[in-house]
Amino acid sequence: MINTTQRLTKIAIIGTGRVGASCAYALQMRGVASEIVLINANRQRAEGEAMDINHGSLFTKPVRVWAGDYRDCRDADIVVLAAGAAQKPGDTRLELLRNNATILERTLAPALKYLEDSILLVAANPVDVLTYLAWRMTGLPSNQIIGSGTILDTARFRFLLGQHFGIEPHSIHAYVIGEHGDSQVPLWSLANIAGVRLDEYAVLNGKPLDGSHRQTIAENTRRAAYEIIKRKAATYYAIAAGLVRIIETIVRDEKSVLTVSGVVDGTRGWADAAISLPRVIDRHGIAGTLALPLSGEEEAALNRSAQVIREAVLSLALDEQISLGKIPSLRLVLEQHEPA
Ligand SMILES: NC(=O)c1ccc[n+]([C@@H]2O[C@H](COP(=O)([O-])OP(=O)(O)OC[C@H]3O[C@@H](n4cnc5c(N)ncnc54)[C@H](O)[C@@H]3O)[C@@H](O)[C@H]2O)c1
Repeated sequence: MINTTQRLTKIAIIGTGRVGASCAYALQMRGVASEIVLINANRQRAEGEAMDINHGSLFTKPVRVWAGDYRDCRDADIVVLAAGAAQKPGDTRLELLRNNATILERTLAPALKYLEDSILLVAANPVDVLTYLAWRMTGLPSNQIIGSGTILDTARFRFLLGQHFGIEPHSIHAYVIGEHGDSQVPLWSLANIAGVRLDEYAVLNGKPLDGSHRQTIAENTRRAAYEIIKRKAATYYAIAAGLVRIIETIVRDEKSVLTVSGVVDGTRGWADAAISLPRVIDRHGIAGTLALPLSGEEEAALNRSAQVIREAVLSLALDEQISLGKIPSLRLVLEQHEPA
């Protein structure tokens, strides 16, 4: 958690492949952190990334970047979890589940006892399921566990709407919520430009937005990762920019609203999941979640999306795995270290 009495901001990144390293680079470019520690299964990879990023320091704000170990998560304000196999062409994010759940367990377990005061930012996919798993393993208050969720889908949605209307995405207010995956829900009913609902904007400004336009924009948002992966094997720049936006919001105690994934608290009848909704982010992590006046269709789609995530979570049989000690939890780690 951000300590306001100290000016230094330490970010640890676990998993320094394409997403983790791009995040470190983007952090350096934005000058958000004073210290970035890179942790990877392949230590040499982390060392190489640290060297490469450090060599650009003449041209950026000063930041100390170094390769470390899990114990170096101690005192980190934010720990980014980006270790995981990437999606292969044709893979759905949920197909990655078992593989990446195991990687999350292996990478989080040695870091567990250093994380008490940190905010965890989960990027590895399927991000909603892994956000929930990170919460179960750490037992940290749920406000300290943030998944990047649909921050990227929201950015893609606004980019595509921006292209359609010839308006810069910052001036378009539109959100994608639900799963960061195939069941995501674009919120057409609330989307607006300068406070003017999109359907009205379309009529008033002579820029038609009919059903087929909407379908194409929603489909291109939902399928963006598949299309990029088909062409260049992975996506990493945009998610890195999104991660840095979340980190900046925390570090600056901004109280900005971002569509990030958070553990559900039983409202709406949802359980056993983390899901993206517009959430207020401050220096403590998730400070609140916006109540939304959704259309009936959007409400139903969001419930379906929560169910998709819940089913994936339940397929991991976490209660059983944790009680058998097959998945380490902070509670078990502490019990094992308790003096007799
Ligand atoms: N949230 C999003 O919007 C978003 C966007 C893009 C990618 N991703 C996800 O981010 C994750 C990383 O993607 P990437 O392209 O950087 O992959 P990558 O293969 O380039 O890097 C993964 C890194 O994880 C490390 N790793 C793998 N297994 C490990 C283990 N058991 N212990 C420790 N480290 C291990 C590897 O050494 C590697 O450096 C994937 O799960 C991918 O799907 C998420």
